[in-house]
Amino acid sequence: MSTLAGKHIVLGLSGGIAAFKSAELCRALVKAGVTVQVVMTEAAEHFMTAVTMQALSGRPVYTSQWDPREANNMAHINLSRDADAIVVAPASADFLSKLLHGGADELLSLMCLARPIDKVPLIVAPAMNREMWSNPATQRNVAQLKADGIHVLDVGQGDQACGETGDGRMLESDEILEELEAFFTPKALSGKSVLVTAGPTYEAIDPVRGITNLSSGKMGFAIARAARMAGAQVTLVAGPVHLPSPRGVLRFNVRSAREMLDAVVQQADAADVFIATAAVADWRPTHSADQKIKKDGSGQTPELSFVENPDILATIAQSLRGASGELFCVGFAAESHDLLQHATAKRLRKGVPLLVGNIGPATFGQDDNALLLVDEKGARELPHASKQALAVQLITDIASRLTR
Ligand code: CTP
Repeated sequence: MSTLAGKHIVLGLSGGIAAFKSAELCRALVKAGVTVQVVMTEAAEHFMTAVTMQALSGRPVYTSQWDPREANNMAHINLSRDADAIVVAPASADFLSKLLHGGADELLSLMCLARPIDKVPLIVAPAMNREMWSNPATQRNVAQLKADGIHVLDVGQGDQACGETGDGRMLESDEILEELEAFFTPKALSGKSVLVTAGPTYEAIDPVRGITNLSSGKMGFAIARAARMAGAQVTLVAGPVHLPSPRGVLRFNVRSAREMLDAVVQQADAADVFIATAAVADWRPTHSADQKIKKDGSGQTPELSFVENPDILATIAQSLRGASGELFCVGFAAESHDLLQHATAKRLRKGVPLLVGNIGPATFGQDDNALLLVDEKGARELPHASKQALAVQLITDIASRLTR
């Protein structure tokens, strides 16, 4: 379940072409279990109708400080008092400037000014032309708004509605949703650095063929995302997978087990936690041919021999920082049967304090899973759930182990 479920968010729209993304954002918030109250400026109504936002949010939209529906005629007070946050998306350059100066000449800015600042956080998603964004006036405003405790989200980069290309686009609705989820997640890993391996490795036979496995990387990516939401700095070393990077995560793409080991060794010194979810190929071909191996028509098959790959988890767990516990190492075990028995033996063999078992064939490529957490005291099951929900539970469990 999303950390947003049950929240009440006031979604403010100021005037900008990015308002079309706010319709998607509104829908996504409602889907995540949020009640959404939309407030629009007059300028926003040039880009998006209140009817659309009412249909998507399921609530009448407020556009005027003189709205007679409020018995006391104080919409600016009433709307913010039970909100968990006010999110202004898009926040135009003009609206940012107005917030900075405490302007209050229409309902949205008036409501922002009138909100109880200790109780109702204000989150803004800027949206403007790249020249407007990079203008010193805007940058000064953004810096001061941050200093005033307002959460200013990043801007996106790319093609703009005006035909120019650069910084200043409003984040996409799914990116804003992710930022909001992160905002409401308790920061159990604040100040910690987490290193995650994910996906399969690919071991080349020749330039066009290789051996790999069915790991999709979804569990590792979900863990990286959950760790970042919990406030950690996250580095993700990913084998060949078709997954977008979780927001705010530093990603290194690798192909073979040896490349993965190199990347992990380089990053491990700075880490407090190492979580090895990658399904590393146990063996690689002894020789990888420089050119494609051709059939010669004789019906003879090529002779393939294999050598064992380095064990990345064991290497790190048995390093100075791993063995002393300074770097908390977590292994995964993908098994096909006798999970508890294999996971228990694997934990000891790898020399890690925590090993997470799962049934490989049942979970590869799926969006859900079930986990078995094995430590020196015994085993605890995290029952069947989405990989993202399990990742959140696992990260909470790991964080509690760091503070023991
Ligand atoms: N692992 C690793 N490097 C390897 C092999 C495995 O870092 N060369 C890590 C995996 O990321 C996982 C754990 O070790 O965290 C266990 O991986 P798994 O493939 O289940 O175990 P193996 O060591 O390959 O043992 P077996 O083949 O006997 O199941």
